[in-house]
Amino acid sequence: MEDLTPKKTDLDPIEIASRDEISALQLDRLKRSLRHAYDNVPMYKKRFDEAGVHPDDVTSLADLAKFPFTYKNDLRDNYPFGLFAVPRSQIARIHASSGTTGKPTVVGYTKADLENWADLGARSFRAAGVRRGDMVHNAYGYGLFTGGLGAHAGIERLGATVVPVSGGMTERQVTLINDFKPDAIAVTPSYMLNILEQFHKQGLDPRATSLKVGIFGAEPWTDAMRREVEEAFDMHAVDIYGLSEIMGPGVANECVETKDGPVIWEDHFYPEIINPETGQVLPDGEMGELVFTTLTKEGLPMIRYRTRDLSRLLPGTARSMRRMEKITGRSDDMMILRGVNVFPTQIEEQVMATGGLAPYFQVELYRSGRMDAMRVHVEMLPDASDDASKDAAARMLFKRIKDVVGVSTEVNVQDPGRVERSQGKARRVVDNRPRE
Ligand code: DLL
Repeated sequence: MEDLTPKKTDLDPIEIASRDEISALQLDRLKRSLRHAYDNVPMYKKRFDEAGVHPDDVTSLADLAKFPFTYKNDLRDNYPFGLFAVPRSQIARIHASSGTTGKPTVVGYTKADLENWADLGARSFRAAGVRRGDMVHNAYGYGLFTGGLGAHAGIERLGATVVPVSGGMTERQVTLINDFKPDAIAVTPSYMLNILEQFHKQGLDPRATSLKVGIFGAEPWTDAMRREVEEAFDMHAVDIYGLSEIMGPGVANECVETKDGPVIWEDHFYPEIINPETGQVLPDGEMGELVFTTLTKEGLPMIRYRTRDLSRLLPGTARSMRRMEKITGRSDDMMILRGVNVFPTQIEEQVMATGGLAPYFQVELYRSGRMDAMRVHVEMLPDASDDASKDAAARMLFKRIKDVVGVSTEVNVQDPGRVERSQGKARRVVDNRPRE
């Protein structure tokens, strides 16, 4: 794989500034952001007053811990525009979550917010090894989802050529990759596997493409998946993180030269890790729930937003800014089986490590007597789907999950092509337990 490390002179100066400089900027921006939220969003004014805190009392970054949290439900309760801090007419763009359960979460951006987003998108793609003049195939979904348009603006801002393919029509994705010869692809990791399969179906060699790097995010994925995709396409696989409530793709991005977890763009987002039960702030290095405070957002300032993503804060390496550990899972996705916490990513690791299995899987939860139980649906690789190989793979996967994850699961090994394919964010868990 090609060395794609960006030149130091191409970085934004703040990416390699001293920690003191970064903290000073953060404190200054934090005070302004808290003030902006307090003055313009009734919910924040009420909450801060109730908690007896005021933006003017903030003298250090640690003071932020005195402020109340904001939750996804607060966006729903104030649906659609109740948390906007500027008049609706100053909102240049709206995005929203798909809202599979209940009302969608709606987010809004001023012109200045969109400018910052494009800048951070550009910074993210540069960190991933994309350069001015490169071509990027953007297969994140366009529309209300922040993925497509968010990445699009960043790619353009970097001075690269964007191909706005969006998700779906997998055959055409392969055609365009072959014909246009992009240097990079931006897509969810699970959909990349779908594209990989299409290469094989068309009898094409995925290692022979022009792709040098993939920028993968919007869902949890493991280092095992990274190795799988890097090997399959002979390219780098880099992690991009973000969430709509805070901005969209590009809140944090991994550096291609280190691949050691996304660097949080701390000049715009202040991260904390908390104990999700007590709300207490944990020191760097400890595992907990990631909480973000926006430092520059005008349209929708977010103060101590509970992401439900589990991670830890790590010291800077390729940049001065802190990194977050690759997300192992969301607290929402955590399954509890006979007292053991299980995340879909743990299953992913074991599926990837089991010989003969294709890299697709889905976890089904069901009720067995009075206990919750789990069935893992996987499928064989096309060239090895005889019964003996299936049995061997099933036994191996069962044993791996039992030994490494610590739970007994049923394993259902199917013929090639039977497990649901991802069209964007993969649906990893199907809950068939009876509703109480
Ligand atoms: O998924 C934004 C995005 C688009 C990020 C494209 C990266 C690329 P939402 O739809 O609001 O926004 O979903 C946000 O997705 O809280 C995480 O749980 C999950 N997520 C996003 N990126 C990653 C990642 C976009 N790199 C939610 N690793 C977040 C793990 C991720 N999970």
